[in-house]
Amino acid sequence: MTGDIIDGKRVADEIRGELQARLERLRARGVNPGLTAILVGDNPGSQLYVKMKGRACEEMGMAHQTITMPKDTPQDVLLREVASLNRDPKVHGILVQQPLPPQIAVEAAVTAVDPRKDVDCFHPDNVGRVLIGTPRFAPATPAGVVELLVRSGNDPAGKDVVIAGRSNIVGKPLAALLMQKAPKANATVTVVHSATRDLAAHTRRADILVAAMGAPQTIRADMVQDGVVVIDVATNRIPDATKKSGYRTVGDVDFDAVKEKAKAITPVPGGVGPMTIAMLLVNTVRAAELALE
Ligand code: GUN
Repeated sequence: MTGDIIDGKRVADEIRGELQARLERLRARGVNPGLTAILVGDNPGSQLYVKMKGRACEEMGMAHQTITMPKDTPQDVLLREVASLNRDPKVHGILVQQPLPPQIAVEAAVTAVDPRKDVDCFHPDNVGRVLIGTPRFAPATPAGVVELLVRSGNDPAGKDVVIAGRSNIVGKPLAALLMQKAPKANATVTVVHSATRDLAAHTRRADILVAAMGAPQTIRADMVQDGVVVIDVATNRIPDATKKSGYRTVGDVDFDAVKEKAKAITPVPGGVGPMTIAMLLVNTVRAAELALE
């Protein structure tokens, strides 16, 4: 079997299209949703992500701004900036791009954002709400994975889902989403990680495998069963002398080999990436709606 390629850009466009009616209702009430991204330092990947988030807002006619701060910014300076954005009624969504430089504690940054403006869904209040099944926002990348599954005809209900990776951004919140007794969920979830004794023994049992480890091309064809559905969340840059940039971007999955066994598989790039941005737009619209309640 050669798997279908799940087109993240097409699904993301579909979701963006569905947002138009909500945007029109908000604009009829004099509100245009606005997103502010804070970028600390000069990580090239982060610069690219933040630029793409801004461009996506522009394409939707939504307001956006990026606040860039030098990489030696003290934590209290960042926190004061966040506090000022929390008070600004024109700013509906705030995100602090990760990774952060070492003098800034991730926990301090995510806790500083007003939970009603936390479009990343990283604040402990919002993370807890996802876990207990009363979400305010959906975590963007995990929600993007769920939408890709459902809209490609691979509803996770009743399926054995194996998630490789336990980050606070992807693995843990995705496990929380998929284990809920709720539509688009109801899966049997296993999370494997760096201390898992036999990774392949778990991945081979997966009906749906989500790779989010940040370990380039680690999932090989002998680690999956025929008919598996594979979602590759990772974007790893590996050296490639044939490219002008000197690198290319690959996922955690050996795509060419695994696609031969898969029922469906996402490419990197063009799979989960566009979905993260689409779900961030959904959360920004939701934040603007919440501000009116
Ligand atoms: N770094 C990697 N993914 C994300 C994300 O979704 N949001 C933020 N703020 N930083 C990230």
